[in-house]
Formats: sequence, C-alpha cells, structure tokens
Amino acid sequence: MRILAIETSCDETAIAILECDGGLANPQFKVLAEEVSSQIETHRPFGGVVPNLAKREHIQNLPIVYNQIIQKFKILNLKFEIDLIAVTVGPGLEPCLWTGINFAENLAKELNKPLIGVNHLEGHIYSNWLKPIRGILNLKFKILNSSRTIAFPAIVLLVSGGHTMLILMTSLTPPAGGWKVLGETKDDAVGEAFDKVAKMLKLPYPGGPEVEKLAAQNPKSNIQNPINFPRPMIHEKNYDFSFSGLKTSVLYYLRDNEEILRSAQDDSLKAVVCSAFQEAAIDVLVTKTMRAAEEFDAKTILLCGGVASNKFLQKNLLEKIQNLKSKIQMLVPPDKYNGDNAVMIAAAAYINHLQNKSHKIEANGNLGL
Ligand code: KG4
Ligand code: ZN
Repeated sequence: MRILAIETSCDETAIAILECDGGLANPQFKVLAEEVSSQIETHRPFGGVVPNLAKREHIQNLPIVYNQIIQKFKILNLKFEIDLIAVTVGPGLEPCLWTGINFAENLAKELNKPLIGVNHLEGHIYSNWLKPIRGILNLKFKILNSSRTIAFPAIVLLVSGGHTMLILMTSLTPPAGGWKVLGETKDDAVGEAFDKVAKMLKLPYPGGPEVEKLAAQNPKSNIQNPINFPRPMIHEKNYDFSFSGLKTSVLYYLRDNEEILRSAQDDSLKAVVCSAFQEAAIDVLVTKTMRAAEEFDAKTILLCGGVASNKFLQKNLLEKIQNLKSKIQMLVPPDKYNGDNAVMIAAAAYINHLQNKSHKIEANGNLGL
C-alpha cells in the first residue's frame, strides 16, 4: 500500500510517500518521494525554536513541500496513487501539530482517503526499520549482525531535542498497555542540553552537531580530559536521566574560566569543554543503555532521534557491545531519518494501520508512548 505522511511537530515541515509491504511479519518500506523543509535559519537568531514563528513557517511551507512531492512523484492525480494519509498528532508543539493536522484533513477530504494519526515517538522508533543502516559501516567496525530481521527483546535509546527515553521493546507492535518505558529524563532532554551548552559557547543553533564537531578537535578527547563534568544519575539503579545539573556545571565552568569565551579566533579551549560535556552526557547514556540491555537480555539495541546521529555515542556504545560475551546487534538509522522527517511517520502509520490503530486526530503536545 502507499502512504502519504505529514510531519510538522517541531521545526521541520516534512512530507513523504512510501510504498509499504510485507505486513507485520516483515515490514518493508520503499521511499517514493520525500521532502523536508527545515526552519533552522528562521530560528537561529533566537538560539532555539520559537513556536509561533514555527507555526507560521509550517503554514507557508506545507503547500510548497506538497507541490515538490507531487513533482518528484511525477503524478498528476494522487487520488489513484495513494491509499492512506498519515499525520503526526503528538508529542510536539501544539500550534505546529495543528497546521499539519488541518492540512492532512483537507487533503484526505479532497482525495477521499482515510486519515490516521501517528505518534511521533513511534515514528522515531520505527525509523530503525528503514534501510540502509549506516553509521556502523562508517565507523569501520565490523557489523555484528547484518541481518535485517530485528531480534527481540530490544532496548531502544530514543534521544532527541525533546526526549531521552529507554524503552523495552518485546515485539514489533506494542503489547496491551504499551511497551515498557524503563526510564526517561527528569528535566532536560539530552539534545536540549547539547543545544544549551552550544548556546553558552556561542555556537550556532542547532548546537548538537556543532558540539560534536568541536569536541572531535580536542586532541585529549577520551584520553585525559582536564575537565571532569559530573555524570548525573549514572549510579542510580533506575533508568532515568537528568541533564540540567550537567548543563549548570558547564555554565559555572565557563563563568570561572572567562578566557574560554574571549578567545574568538582560537576554538581549542571551547573544544576541550565540548568534549568534556559530550563525554559526560554520552557516558550516562551508554552506561544506562548497557545496564538495561544486560538486565533484560536484549538481543538488539536500537538508537533513534536526532542525537542518535552523534558518532561519539555510536562508537562508544558499539565498543561496549563488542566487549560483551553475548551477541547483541546495534542498529542506527541513517542520519537523515534520525532528525524529524515524514518517512518515519509513514512507516509507523503502516504498522499502526495493520493493527487497525489510529491515534485521535487531535494535537496532543504531551502524547506519550
Ligand atoms: O529528533 P530531532 O530532530 O527533533 C526532536 O524530535 O527533538 O532532534 C533534534 C535534536 C537537537 O537537540 C539537536 O541538537 C540534536 O538532536 N542533535 C545532536 C546531533 N545531531 C542532532 N546532538 C548531538 N550530536 C549530534 N550529532
Ligand atoms: Zn523528533
């Protein structure tokens, strides 16, 4: 079946058309057309997403992105080409979610097609079912298991600008009552912490990739960093996270070492701070993910969300997995499907549709798993 999906939960306006096949036993996805219009430039001067500006941009961009999709798909009448329309209903910024929902409702009416509501978090999780798996190959590590079938139980580390969650996934579809959320952040999401630290260091928005880039320039990274930031909750026996204290430690460090921000031409001092922050944040994520994998005898670890593109995270997790006696497969979607996109929403829509499930077609900013 062919699904057209719309995603507007934050600052990306995205539409995709996928051909979906294989049923619940072996879901397969072919991307027929995909388009993402990013609002990064609009929000950059403010150092973060401004909800009302984002809403305005979505309203402007949706028809443009839709026309680009139609052109790419090389079809004049979608009515005969797609079977289902899907739209993200939450979590996210409600004014932004509504723009996508309104657009989707009009399109569904115009084309006379059913419409289903999708949970953005399920989209991130199912992005692991999109091919090809990249990142692992790029790191020049051997692939632990190149099979496309994903073995359960799986531990999902969902890390984005809005979420930091560890999820126990026992099957492709959630059991009654949903998958077990083992833990989540009590304050800032890890991507948000990356963005805030970047802002303190006067790096451009979004800060995650900038912090990673600069951290890689620190020659002492991972060997002997002169700064040792705290690793919040790392020893606590639960699977929850907290990143706001770590962020505050960076703030105090910068206040006490004013020369770091004064050195306009020389980024080497900033690089040391970036790598110390990144090491602390990733250490917590990796330690807790590995502990969950061992406790629940995981056969697979799935990464997803914007921060899953971080190569330092991928590398550290993979190293830990390779040291284990039992074999665990680690999967990470291609970078472009870690960031917000409509391809993952179409994939989640297919799996929901096969179970006759739809989330209510109504924006829900706090929708959980
Ligand atoms: O999944 P996503 O695109 O949007 C949300 O649903 O939040 O995630 C965006 C977040 C931002 O905070 C961004 O800074 C972070 O992911 N991010 C990264 C990297 N790439 C994106 N954080 C660390 N390292 C990266 N390479
Ligand atoms: Zn997201």
